[in-house]
Amino acid sequence: MFLLSSTVPAWADAARTDLGALLVDHLHCERKAVENALQLVRRYADRAGMVEALARLAHEETAHLVRMSALLEERGLPMRHDVGNRYAQLLRAEVRPGEPARLLDSLLTSAFIEARSHERLLLLGRAFAAAGDHDAAGIYAALASAEERHFELFLELAREVAPAEADARAAELGAREAEIIASLPHGPRIH
Ligand SMILES: [Fe+2]
Ligand SMILES: [Fe+2]
Repeated sequence: MFLLSSTVPAWADAARTDLGALLVDHLHCERKAVENALQLVRRYADRAGMVEALARLAHEETAHLVRMSALLEERGLPMRHDVGNRYAQLLRAEVRPGEPARLLDSLLTSAFIEARSHERLLLLGRAFAAAGDHDAAGIYAALASAEERHFELFLELAREVAPAEADARAAELGAREAEIIASLPHGPRIH
């Protein structure tokens, strides 16, 4: 298990108290996943193996963004501006400046965001199924399994770029990730 803590099942009920806010937050998470992948392509364009993997990832995250915008539209829920994601901001603040540490930390923090998203989308999928919303349950189950693959991709890339250091650094960042997620209130957001 990569994550050092588990979200309590009651979290999904708190998240679903305002479906419009939850889906908008999720939509912006997908947008930021696209932007993060493309930013890594821009910054590390000289790493051939990584560029293709990240370009494919951006493509898939864009499909998730389309899926979330369609779901909001289908439910008659309004699009809204992003109000920011404290979880990702606090985790990204752990990225060390200067290469090659910056690349390793960027890949590992991305891996944690994907792993936590996987965990939470899975919980939401089950909560939607229990509430009889099988359309949303199906979408969340599919997106959760994609986020699990994305977590594996980022971890694999981290181990490729820093084979000697990746696992030790992942343990450090994992401890910090668990602290951050525990410090944030439950509400209609993914993190
Ligand atoms: Fe995604
Ligand atoms: Fe993802």
